[in-house]
Amino acid sequence: MNEIKKIPVILDGDPGHDDAIAWVLAAADPRLDIKAITTVAGNQTMAKVTYNARRIAALLKIDAPVAKGRDIPLISELMVAPQYHGESGLDGPGLPEPAQDLCPLSAVELMAKVLRESEEKVIIIATGPQTNVATLLLAHPELKEKIALISTMGGGLRNGNWTSSAEFNILVDPEAAYIEYHAGVPLMMCGLDVTEKAMIFPEEWEKIRVLGNPVAKTVAEWLDFFFIHLKQLGWEGATLHDPCSVLAITHPEIFKIIDVYVEIELGGEYTRGATIADWNHRSGKEPNCRAVVDIDREKFVELLIEMISRFGGEQA
Ligand code: BDR
Ligand code: CA
Repeated sequence: MNEIKKIPVILDGDPGHDDAIAWVLAAADPRLDIKAITTVAGNQTMAKVTYNARRIAALLKIDAPVAKGRDIPLISELMVAPQYHGESGLDGPGLPEPAQDLCPLSAVELMAKVLRESEEKVIIIATGPQTNVATLLLAHPELKEKIALISTMGGGLRNGNWTSSAEFNILVDPEAAYIEYHAGVPLMMCGLDVTEKAMIFPEEWEKIRVLGNPVAKTVAEWLDFFFIHLKQLGWEGATLHDPCSVLAITHPEIFKIIDVYVEIELGGEYTRGATIADWNHRSGKEPNCRAVVDIDREKFVELLIEMISRFGGEQA
């Protein structure tokens, strides 16, 4: 029998409803081997997102170590997003208590250990501010060659969502993003160009709810909560930002991806945290990332439902 060749991955994020759903998809794909979960402050404080991460790991039966990152961004003050994710950072359904202790290593130490010990190159899926990733790249340049790809959710080539020009993950820690985009490592950017099109409508997540397994029920209830604020803002469905950074690796055929040079705005009275694309090649610089810019939305939703149907167990 042919053995599936697994890709080692590190999940770095700030769960967060869409981070959590991204991790559901990573756990559902037998080709991904989750080696570590690391948390970054963003959607909520470090303590809250770390507790959430440990509870998600328990729900998904992920036994990889969970390590916490730095409490604050590199330079900026921490901004959190309770209007989208609630006071806990993951309001909505009840979750199991953590099944394992927190890893005694810091997020960056754990990432470095995984990279050092892995025979295969590792993919880092980074769905929060890029604080941990940037710290890793600065502290361990010798490990860059062990990184197959950093697949990030962040930025937008055309617009922002937190300010007119900046997306939340980049705006929380622009200096970290700057370090990452200048590190010379393979980078995939899932920005708002694609993630605002990665929408699921309420009638579609009813199909998830009726799948009849506990993960499906939880995902549907996460979407119920996540949609409350989005609906107030005028969205007709829930925008699944972070799941794109997983599916862009596992199912690239449903996306449109371009090579482009992207600069991170660190100054700017109105534009700090903007991701500026060199559309017309005026900079003369080689592309520093692959930017995911479009999606087959219907296939995306079909895939989501099918992947969530893979989880076992009876609905309570
Ligand atoms: C990003 O911000 C966070 O609130 C989400 O989890 C996502 O990573 C979207 O701008
Ligand atoms: Ca996130």
